[in-house]
Amino acid sequence: MSSPYLTLNVVEITQETPDAATIHFERPDRQPVACQPGQFLTLILPCGPGGKKERRAYSLSSTPGEAPRLAVTVKRVSGGLVSNYLLDTVRVGQQLEVMAPLGNFSLQTQPQASRSIVLVGAGSGITPLMSILKAVLREEPRSHVLLVYGNRNEESVIFGAQLRQLEQQYAGRLQVEHVYSQPTHGPAAHQHTGRLNRTTLLRILEQRHQFPPAQAEYFLCGPEGMMAEAKSALELLGVPAANIRRESFVAAAETMEAAAAQPNGHGDVSSADDDGQIVTRNVTINYEGSEYQFEVTPAQTILEAALDLDIDLPYSCQAGLCTACRGKCLSGKVHLDEREGLSDAEMKQGYVLVCVGHPLTSDVVIEIG
Ligand SMILES: Cc1cc2nc3c(=O)[nH]c(=O)nc-3n(C[C@H](O)[C@H](O)[C@H](O)COP(=O)(O)OP(=O)(O)OC[C@H]3O[C@@H](n4cnc5c(N)ncnc54)[C@H](O)[C@@H]3O)c2cc1C
Ligand code: FES
Repeated sequence: MSSPYLTLNVVEITQETPDAATIHFERPDRQPVACQPGQFLTLILPCGPGGKKERRAYSLSSTPGEAPRLAVTVKRVSGGLVSNYLLDTVRVGQQLEVMAPLGNFSLQTQPQASRSIVLVGAGSGITPLMSILKAVLREEPRSHVLLVYGNRNEESVIFGAQLRQLEQQYAGRLQVEHVYSQPTHGPAAHQHTGRLNRTTLLRILEQRHQFPPAQAEYFLCGPEGMMAEAKSALELLGVPAANIRRESFVAAAETMEAAAAQPNGHGDVSSADDDGQIVTRNVTINYEGSEYQFEVTPAQTILEAALDLDIDLPYSCQAGLCTACRGKCLSGKVHLDEREGLSDAEMKQGYVLVCVGHPLTSDVVIEIG
């Protein structure tokens, strides 16, 4: 298997809004980097205490069609370590270490497809949606895209000019509906005021006959509250759950406690040692042809224990959101502090996220990759 790590050159930086910028990259040999629209890149930066390397996930705002370039768009988070470091220090000509694109919040384009794609996003949640939007418009000439995009005001819209240009270029195939919570200018066409909530979304979607709820495909990315409102609106419209995909950038305030009982005949707790409690236990990880056995204490996640031993497992967000650390539990039981990144189907198949995982039994074996 090829290394998941890459070095990329920063070839351009575009200021999108006062607090967001797009960083454009290329490989030094200008070869394309394999990716799907909507996936994310993991930036690895020496900006932690004492130069410690920090990782953060940033969705691609570019599409594979823009190769050899690829881009991420970073919005400043008040007090945030990496977003401020990136926006304040990264310059054209610099080289950055990254982990190659990953993620399931993606769309595979099909040139013959004739489908309706509805994208609902707010703030920096626009980034993967922009990648998907550009890919569909470029590569699926018979498909239509509706973007419902929430922002505080007109000045905080990332990609505003690009979206206007795309609406003209792909007239009839792209519709953009802006929703402003605190607009600075008067009402204009394609504009809704107030929060991007269930009522607003229902009002917008009910007028769009080109996007029939039962058939359209929905991609949601934004703050937790917005996605909950959107999900509720789509349920009311009778959209099948399988047609709705979502991506979170931030862990929900209240950690979802999700004990993942694994299949493979190991679901039953049988011995005193296998009492389903989070205590110090050994786990086995199979990764890239090697087997690692190590101890995980109750204070550690499985990933933290591995990293403390310099076992180089793949990871990005360390919050159970991005799935970079996803593995399949071949035996035993694992408790997950958070399961946002995993679908119900993945949970049923025994997938776990080692960055938020704790062994519940002494026979845990996880295969990563
Ligand atoms: C799959 C995935 C894709 C992502 N894509 C993008 C992207 O395209 N563009 C982008 O700008 N960010 C994106 N993020 C978020 C990004 O990875 C970082 O979390 C973000 O830049 C904050 O990092 P930081 O080091 O500046 O803040 P930290 O130092 O990690 O956090 C500081 C504080 O801010 C809070 N916080 C963290 N992120 C946010 C946020 N987004 N909004 C509000 N509060 C927050 C934290 O809970 C913490 O309390 C993505 C995250 C994931 C998991
Ligand atoms: S590192 Fe992101 S889900 Fe585990």
